[in-house]
Amino acid sequence: MSNRLNGKVALVTGGNSGIGREAVQRFLEEGATVYLTGRNPKTIEDTVESLGRGKIAGIPCDANDAPGFVRVLERIRKEQGRLDVLFLNAGIAELTPLGSTTEEQVDRLLDTNVKSVFLSVQSAIPYFPETGGAIILSGAWLAECGAPLLPVVSATKAAVRNFARSFSAALLEKKIRVNCVSPGAIATPLYRRLGLPDDQLNELSNLVASKIPLGQFGTARDIANCAVYLASDESNYVLGADFVVDGGFSQLLFTRTNECPVHPD
Ligand SMILES: NC(=O)c1ccc[n+]([C@@H]2O[C@H](COP(=O)([O-])OP(=O)(O)OC[C@H]3O[C@@H](n4cnc5c(N)ncnc54)[C@H](OP(=O)(O)O)[C@@H]3O)[C@@H](O)[C@H]2O)c1
Repeated sequence: MSNRLNGKVALVTGGNSGIGREAVQRFLEEGATVYLTGRNPKTIEDTVESLGRGKIAGIPCDANDAPGFVRVLERIRKEQGRLDVLFLNAGIAELTPLGSTTEEQVDRLLDTNVKSVFLSVQSAIPYFPETGGAIILSGAWLAECGAPLLPVVSATKAAVRNFARSFSAALLEKKIRVNCVSPGAIATPLYRRLGLPDDQLNELSNLVASKIPLGQFGTARDIANCAVYLASDESNYVLGADFVVDGGFSQLLFTRTNECPVHPD
């Protein structure tokens, strides 16, 4: 434990599972007071119980409930006086191949991953102090690649990546920095939520892992560590940026020299 977020008040959406839960833990370890939201009251309660009461509170709130999110912000202002860090981590993934995707799926993905991010940032601005703060958005390595099974998720994350630029520009005078952390393939409950049978999920996971230059899925902690940096004053000179944390998946073309047709040996 160190004190990189000492005295800061943070809100993590989707803090009851996967990356968000790990971010809650890391923020607490670094000295922040942390509020978390999610949809599932049971996992919210379990998270608060297991990470320790006192400097943490869990509030059920659907990301698509804009008035509900304002109530969360009001509670934080009442109890803490301000918000210093907002990690908009809540998000969903669904397989949406061209040709067999419903309008409801497209709406759900756009609402949860894009619309709610815009409205949440807009609502949160007045809750930051005059000294400013940090907003972290959750992108994805997919924003830079084509993925035939995930075209809508990929597009939502490309939108979020762009939000980080526009929001940072709009919030310059308020000294609120907005950056994006873009996970690669990270082992979290998100994959089970895709609804694939076990054998197909295993096959997909093995295929993905084999394509990652580091040879394995990342951990929620890999992303949470990056979020700590973006939440802390150490990143004061970083605005509108995207940190891709993906084991080199989207960045390296040839991963080993012997896979390249032209090499010195
Ligand atoms: N894992 C990866 O490989 C990966 C890769 C790229 C990007 N990401 C992004 O990373 C973020 C976290 O994902 P994860 O891997 O940690 O997945 P996860 O374990 O499935 O967690 C998703 C979190 O988002 C919350 N959430 C989803 N829809 C919500 C809604 N409508 N209202 C409120 N909360 C909602 C969930 O709450 P409930 O459990 O209560 O529903 C849960 O806490 C997401 O934005 C995801 O797109 C993940």
